[in-house]
Amino acid sequence: MKGIILAGGRATRLRPLTKITSKQLLPVYNKPMIFYPLETLLKAGIKDILIIISPEYAGHFLNLLGSGKEFGAKFTFEIQEEPRGLPDAFIVGEQFIGRDNVTMILGDNIFDDDFSSQIKGFHSGGHVFAKEVADPQRYGVIEFDANNKVTSIIEKPTHPKSNFAMVGIYILDKRASHFAKQCKPSARGELEIPDLINFYKEAGELTVSTIKGIWEDAGTFDSLLRANLYWAKKNKANL
Ligand code: G1P
Repeated sequence: MKGIILAGGRATRLRPLTKITSKQLLPVYNKPMIFYPLETLLKAGIKDILIIISPEYAGHFLNLLGSGKEFGAKFTFEIQEEPRGLPDAFIVGEQFIGRDNVTMILGDNIFDDDFSSQIKGFHSGGHVFAKEVADPQRYGVIEFDANNKVTSIIEKPTHPKSNFAMVGIYILDKRASHFAKQCKPSARGELEIPDLINFYKEAGELTVSTIKGIWEDAGTFDSLLRANLYWAKKNKANL
């Protein structure tokens, strides 16, 4: 199992915070944001990790993370010239993935949870994670039945069919790159992750599990602050 952290993009929603640095380098309490998804992968035993970054701050990521030795891992870096959507991670990462399975995590998704059992127990197909939220229209919304059979996945729907967000960690087999190349850009000009996951659904090879732990997509001022407060409290900060 290989790992990919997608830490590209321009994060215009977080301007001016992101005018001179990358979103994934911003602090979340006592660490740069990218440490959280990195630790999520490391905790699940993934040691071969591709980090996809935008050209502007590539040097900062290299300075911060280095070869991976310090983390007991091996890091590879790839530049994503333009933010082209989540499935693009599997296109940029095609060579890196090779014939292996891969877990892709978004560089701004912060979990207090453990994905080891699903990652270690994965063989083939696709596995995604759902979390019940109050504002599903902000996310990819996943609908599934009582037997956890996925019935629909829709990106940021106006009228969500469920309250479950598809969170930003995806376990996919080696076909991910092939399927990603078949996705077509959406109205916002990007490839959308539900389109890629739908290939696994159509093949009858998609499974989903719900997560109970804490999750933040730290891409807005409010969620970034919530993530900071959560980890500050967890680390017993004297607020
Ligand atoms: C992206 C995905 C969405 C997913 C979310 C998780 O949205 O497109 O499906 O639910 O990440 O954080 P974005 O944060 O790019 O708006």
